[in-house]
This record gives sequence, structure tokens and C-alpha cells, in this order.
Amino acid sequence: MPELCVNIDHVATLRQARGEDEPQPLQAARLAEKAGAAGITVHLREDRRHIQDADVKALRRSVRGKLNLEMAATAEMVAIALRVLPDEATLVPEKRRELTTEGGLEVAGAPRKIGPAVARLRKAGIVTSLFINPEARQVRAAASAGADFVELHTGAYAGAFRKGGRKAARVELERLRAAARLAGSLGLGLNAGHGLTYANVGPVCRLPGLKDLNIGHNIVARAVVVGMEQAVGEMIARMQ
Ligand code: PXP
Repeated sequence: MPELCVNIDHVATLRQARGEDEPQPLQAARLAEKAGAAGITVHLREDRRHIQDADVKALRRSVRGKLNLEMAATAEMVAIALRVLPDEATLVPEKRRELTTEGGLEVAGAPRKIGPAVARLRKAGIVTSLFINPEARQVRAAASAGADFVELHTGAYAGAFRKGGRKAARVELERLRAAARLAGSLGLGLNAGHGLTYANVGPVCRLPGLKDLNIGHNIVARAVVVGMEQAVGEMIARMQ
């Protein structure tokens, strides 16, 4: 069975919406680990739209399991990672205007950009993963770039599942399986994530060699709903 790393970016999104200090990503991370998460994942974006540098620093001190830092392969982010020393760094593509990470990293097309970043992170003892689409050429390029892991982008699978359920997602699942097998044969570790939900996670859990799933939005969305009754009850109690 794979392990779960909870992506808490959207706890910070909610905090940033008001510019105040609640909800605290640190508190969410503690509760996620208490509930059995093997690790915490955060994406420090160039525009700092959710997670802030201070969050990453505080999480480094507090996370007991794995801290996975998602980041662009830029000089600024590599320097931050080398200061913070997360357990794992996942290199992702980043566009300023996107709502979320839209596609995988173009490793095959830009080996000279990715390879040196991987080398610097690994030299510092940081397990380094590349977030890629489930395509053979990207898996091979990730191995050539010296990565420890690939994280397969499950967004296309999730999109197909949303439209037509398990049956409609079969082709995308097969793509993920083929990429997973290739990664294993090249000695790469395997993670996966993006767009995973309570409904579609089952088949992905059975990808061969899968170590971690990084799941964020759907868990945070569910937490808001399952916590609403208690939160409202507590407020009404204070009003008596
Ligand atoms: N993995 C990577 C590399 C991501 O960029 C994201 C989104 O930040 C996730 C996993 C989590 O995706 P979601 O929030 O859709 O579960």
C-alpha cells in the first residue's frame, strides 16, 4: 500500500484570502500526521500565493515524517531548498497565471535546466523527484537527469474519471501503469499525484512500485465540510 503525503497548500490559500493568521498550515500538518499521513507536502510558489517562506521553515522544525517541498527548478528555489533541507524536493513546472500545476515538467526537452538542479539538491542529501506526465520519454529523461524519484501526474486520469468514471479512465490508468513499470525498470522510485479524490484514488493505489501519493485539494475541501458542524456548534455555544 502506498503512503499518503498531505498537500496543505490550500490551508494557506484560505489564510491568505484574509491576510490573517488562520487557519495555520502548521496546525493542519500536525493533525494530518496525527491521522496517519506519512508526510506533508507544500509548494512554495514563486508568487507566494499560498505557502510562505516562514511556513516552510516552521514545517521543517515541526513535521515528524517526511517534508516534501514542491518547487520550480530556479536558482532562488534551489537556494531555499538547500537552506531548509526538506527530506524530499519535487521539481515542478510553474506558470504564474495557472490555477494549479497544469502539466508535468518538460525534462526531455530541457535536460540542461533540470540536471544541474537535481545534482545540487541530491548533493545536499535531499531525495529529488521530478513531476512528469506519464510518458516514456519523460521517464527516461528523468533517469538521465539523475533523479531519485518521479511523481507521475495523475491529472489526465482524474479528468477522465470525472467525466466518465472508472471505465472512461482506463486508458489513462494504463498510461500511468506503463510509466510506472518503466520507472521501476530504470531504478527510479515512484510517487504520483494531482487531482486525486476519495472516488478515484483506488485504482491509482495499485500502480506497481508506488511509494507515495501527494493529495491536497480534495482532502482540504472535505475537511472544511466535515468540520463545519462542529465549528458552527462551537460558535453558537459562545453566543449563549
Ligand atoms: N503533486 C504535485 C506535484 C502538485 O503540484 C500538486 C498540486 O499542488 C499535487 C500533487 C496535489 O494535487 P491536488 O491538490 O489536486 O491533490
